[in-house]
Amino acid sequence: MSQGPRSGLNAVSSALLAMSRHLEVRDVLKTIVASARELLDAEYAALGVPDDHGGFAQFVVDGVSDEQWKAIGPLPRQHGILAAMLQKAEPERLADVREDPRFEGWPDAHPDMSDFLGLPIRYGDETLGALFLANKRCPRIEGRCGFTADDEELLGILAQHAAIALTNARLYERSRELTIAEERSRLAHELHDAVSQKLFSLRLTAQAAAALVDRDPSRAKGELQQVAALAAEAADELRAAVVELRPAALDEDGLVATLRTHSQVLHRAHSARVTFDSNGVRALPAAQEEAMLRVAQEALHNALRHSGAASVAVTLDKRGAGAVLRVTDDGKGFDPQVIRRAGRHLGLVSMRDRASGVGGRLTVDSAPGKGTTIEMEVPGG
Ligand SMILES: Nc1ncnc2c1ncn2[C@@H]1O[C@H](COP(=O)(O)OP(=O)(O)OP(=O)(O)O)[C@@H](O)[C@H]1O
Ligand SMILES: [Mg+2]
Repeated sequence: MSQGPRSGLNAVSSALLAMSRHLEVRDVLKTIVASARELLDAEYAALGVPDDHGGFAQFVVDGVSDEQWKAIGPLPRQHGILAAMLQKAEPERLADVREDPRFEGWPDAHPDMSDFLGLPIRYGDETLGALFLANKRCPRIEGRCGFTADDEELLGILAQHAAIALTNARLYERSRELTIAEERSRLAHELHDAVSQKLFSLRLTAQAAAALVDRDPSRAKGELQQVAALAAEAADELRAAVVELRPAALDEDGLVATLRTHSQVLHRAHSARVTFDSNGVRALPAAQEEAMLRVAQEALHNALRHSGAASVAVTLDKRGAGAVLRVTDDGKGFDPQVIRRAGRHLGLVSMRDRASGVGGRLTVDSAPGKGTTIEMEVPGG
């Protein structure tokens, strides 16, 4: 093996490459520790990430077997030399750690260590963690050897890159958590808007069939066919929500036909009269059509479930390059401000989000005893 600065450079370079290949924080930590131990030819290496309570959120070791690690017991706390390094954020290079006045001893199963090199890992003003190495492996003919100033410099370079790799990995993990949270909320909206409405109609239709089965078997049969159709639609919507598909009907039939069919289905499933009327609307950008359909579904659903209306009218009209959707019921109405103050209602919140998400506008016009009109306008393309 060649000696001198070149081999050091190669070793550093491969350590850096290994670190940047990982995206999970724990993997990055493990690579840093293993690289540091190899680079400086030490018997033991460890990396501690402090928590805010005087302990370590993570503590990764290299050179200690799993059994040994278990036997040592609980994770170290931040005290003695470890604490000094984290607080002062300065390197510590000791010929014999056991002779340092700050040394407080270690647990029974802890391996014996003498020479010690510790370095904080800093990013800007923040101390992300500390890297410790112990027992440099060198021919011990003359008794002891220890870490050199060159070792300290080399570890310093590694620590700087470790800080970057660690920060990147943290950012990556955080962004992934965010994506998962967004995905969960999208799915909740989707399931609420599409599937729960279908299930509600399904329940009513099944109840109607049950009530008719003795008295009027042939009408009961009709209701049961309706149950089957609604169940099939619910299954489709569920699938679409999960794999993030547009409602299939929109692609096949367009917004106008889809709204018409939907209104007809609801008309048959509920006792209220549900009508649909459309004027001059041509195809809109896909996202706007989808948002329109979802808002229409929720508004219809609310009208049928909460208002006790005798009739519900859905209209879709051209306005400029865009379109206006209106869902009007002659039911008991409500005070939108009272509802808003009463807490989060997913339906109304979701309608507003859908409208603003496509550059549109939603208006809720309702008052107790007056009926309700939900209006949504989208700009078109
Ligand atoms: N057309 C309507 N007529 C009468 N009251 C309504 C109407 N639409 C909404 N409401 C009232 O507003 C409340 C909030 O509606 P929203 O759709 O946000 O929630 P929800 O329908 O109760 O529950 P979900 O989250 O399942 O939609 C309803 O509980 C109801 O009291
Ligand atoms: Mg609702």
